[in-house]
Amino acid sequence: MENNQSLKDRVILVTGAGQGLGRAAALACAGRGATVILLGRTTRKLEQVYDEIVAANGPMPAIFPMDLEKAADKDFDTLAQTVGYQLRRLDGILHGAAEFESPSPLGQQTAEEWQRLYKVNVIAPFAINRACLQLLAAAPDAPVILVGESHGHVPAAYWGGFAVSKAALEAYFRIQAEEWADAANLRLNLVIPGPVNSPQRAISHPGEDKSRLPSLATLATDLADLMGPEGHGRRGQLIEWHPASSMNT
Ligand SMILES: NC(=O)c1ccc[n+]([C@@H]2O[C@H](COP(=O)([O-])OP(=O)(O)OC[C@H]3O[C@@H](n4cnc5c(N)ncnc54)[C@H](OP(=O)(O)O)[C@@H]3O)[C@@H](O)[C@H]2O)c1
Repeated sequence: MENNQSLKDRVILVTGAGQGLGRAAALACAGRGATVILLGRTTRKLEQVYDEIVAANGPMPAIFPMDLEKAADKDFDTLAQTVGYQLRRLDGILHGAAEFESPSPLGQQTAEEWQRLYKVNVIAPFAINRACLQLLAAAPDAPVILVGESHGHVPAAYWGGFAVSKAALEAYFRIQAEEWADAANLRLNLVIPGPVNSPQRAISHPGEDKSRLPSLATLATDLADLMGPEGHGRRGQLIEWHPASSMNT
C-alpha cells in the first residue's frame, strides 16, 4: 500500500474493475485507502482484484457483478440502493468499463454491435450517475470520471460505432457537467487517455510495439490523484491525458 492515504474513508465505485484501466484504477484507489466497489461482468476477474487488494492490506473491497449491456433502470437503482444500504455512502465513481470492436468499415458493422457499444459506453455511465446521484450529492467531494477516446473526440474512418459511442459520451459529459454546475461537490471530468498499454490497445493496434507506451498504472495514479484532494477544483474539464501531463496542476 502507498503511504499516500488521500482517499482514506472514501467509498469509490469502479466499473470495469476486472481488467485493464478499471482494474488499475481500483488498485490505485485502494492503495490510497479507499474502499472500492468492484463492478464488472466477470465475477472471477473481480475476485482476483479483490484478492490483490486484500493481499496488499487495502480496505476490504465490495464486489458487484453486473452486465452493463443487459442492465435496465431497475438494475441501476438496485446498485445504488445496495451501495447506500451496505456502505452508507458513495464518494466517487470511475467509469472504466468499455465495450470495443476492432476497427472496420461501416459496411461490415452491425446494428447489434452498435447497440452493445452504446449500452456499455454511453447508457451505463449515464444511468449509473443518475441512480447514484442522491448518494453523490451527500458526499463532501464527489468526483466522477468518464473515460473518453481520441476517436470519439475527432472521429475517423473505420472507428465506426465505437467512435460514435465515445462521441455520444462526450456529448453526455457536456450536458451533465452543465446540469451539475451549481453543485460544487459534483466534480465530473472526462479523461481522454492517449495511447496506453492496455488489453484494448492490444486489439486495436495488434502490430504495435507496446514497450514504449505508458503503463496503465501510470494513468491510474493520475486518475487516483484526480479522485482525491489533489483534484479539488477540477470539474467540467475534458482532460487529454499523456504521461507528462500532470492532472493535478
Ligand atoms: N488503451 C488505450 O490506448 C486507450 C486509449 C484511449 C482510451 N482508452 C479507453 O480506456 C478505457 C479502458 O480501456 P481498457 O483497455 O482498460 O479496456 P479493457 O481492458 O477491454 O477493459 C474493459 C472492461 O470493461 C468491462 N466490460 C465490458 N463490457 C462490459 C459489460 N457489458 N458489463 C460490465 N463490464 C463490461 C470488461 O469486463 P470483462 O473483463 O468482464 O470483459 C473489462 O473489465 C476504454 O474506455 C478505452 O476506450 C484506452
